[in-house]
Amino acid sequence: MSMPRHLASQPPFPSTRLRRLRQAGWARSLVAEHALRPADLVQPFFVLEGHGRREPVPSLPGIERLSIDLLLPQIERCARLGIPMVALFPCTPAERKTVDGREAWNPDNLLCRAIRAVKKAVPEIGVMGDVALDPYTTTGQDGIVADGVILNDETIEALVRQALCQAAAGCDVIAPSDMMDGRVGAIRKALDEAGHAQAIIMAYAAKYASAFYGPFRDAVGSASALGKADKKTYQMDPANVREALREVALDIAEGADLVMVKPGLPYLDVVARVKEAFGVPTFAYHVSGEYAMVKAAAERGWLDGARCMEECLLAFKRAGADGILTYAALEVAERLARQG
Ligand code: PBG
Repeated sequence: MSMPRHLASQPPFPSTRLRRLRQAGWARSLVAEHALRPADLVQPFFVLEGHGRREPVPSLPGIERLSIDLLLPQIERCARLGIPMVALFPCTPAERKTVDGREAWNPDNLLCRAIRAVKKAVPEIGVMGDVALDPYTTTGQDGIVADGVILNDETIEALVRQALCQAAAGCDVIAPSDMMDGRVGAIRKALDEAGHAQAIIMAYAAKYASAFYGPFRDAVGSASALGKADKKTYQMDPANVREALREVALDIAEGADLVMVKPGLPYLDVVARVKEAFGVPTFAYHVSGEYAMVKAAAERGWLDGARCMEECLLAFKRAGADGILTYAALEVAERLARQG
């Protein structure tokens, strides 16, 4: 790549001294190219059955699973701080899990009840719901399994039912995280036919088969079901980036309103290329393992956790992300509010 002309024509040192614009806080903030705002953040929550229940997630320090009654005040906190959307993930009781994950399309499942409660109590905040079968399958897989194979087209039928249930419960953003081929188009069509033309689709468009999802799987209880199995026949190979552009192109063509890259920091090249190539609203998921790494090092006193977390989130903005799903959304929004 040749150097852009405006850089080549910059007079050399000593006429140009880039440190001039770094000499004081006022000068640095004057020329800052990017800034983190609460409006850029999406806070995920893990929802529990029952009442008055909270459980810490040991591999996600600072994050608790909450029953719906305890979840609502946290969602109100998000809304007060200017976080525009929350993502809800159910911790499905083991006795509700089956091979086909049919609890996913039970209109009274935990997630649908949580969506209804949140939309009633805090209507001004956006609610995003994952569409994938892993919280509901005994295999821990995102799809229906037969003879060890994850069935694509049969899974799509299940995902469509799941998406319709969530939309009927009031879910604003339907987020297929399963990586089956063709699911975005099928979901869009079904939503429209059922009168949910307003339901937004955020496609987990380029989702990689990543080891960074470990703490999430602990949190929702899919880790033990999954055991030693992996998701490599549907989630992407971390070696690939051109394929990510094909995935994103297909999801946009099928009707995705928002696209997401996941995980986040190790895939910022993918975020930047997706934003550059398509220019559609592009999100990144700062996933559980990425959050846990910073927290674990901070607990040991090895890193300044707050500063590292903000540096990570700013990196997403620099790469071109329009929004970031992160477990640190609330704590960062609170610090931003204190700084004024
Ligand atoms: C489920 C799902 C996963 C995450 C979001 N939705 C895990 C997986 O695909 O196994 C991961 C989120 C995180 O690690 O924070 N389909």
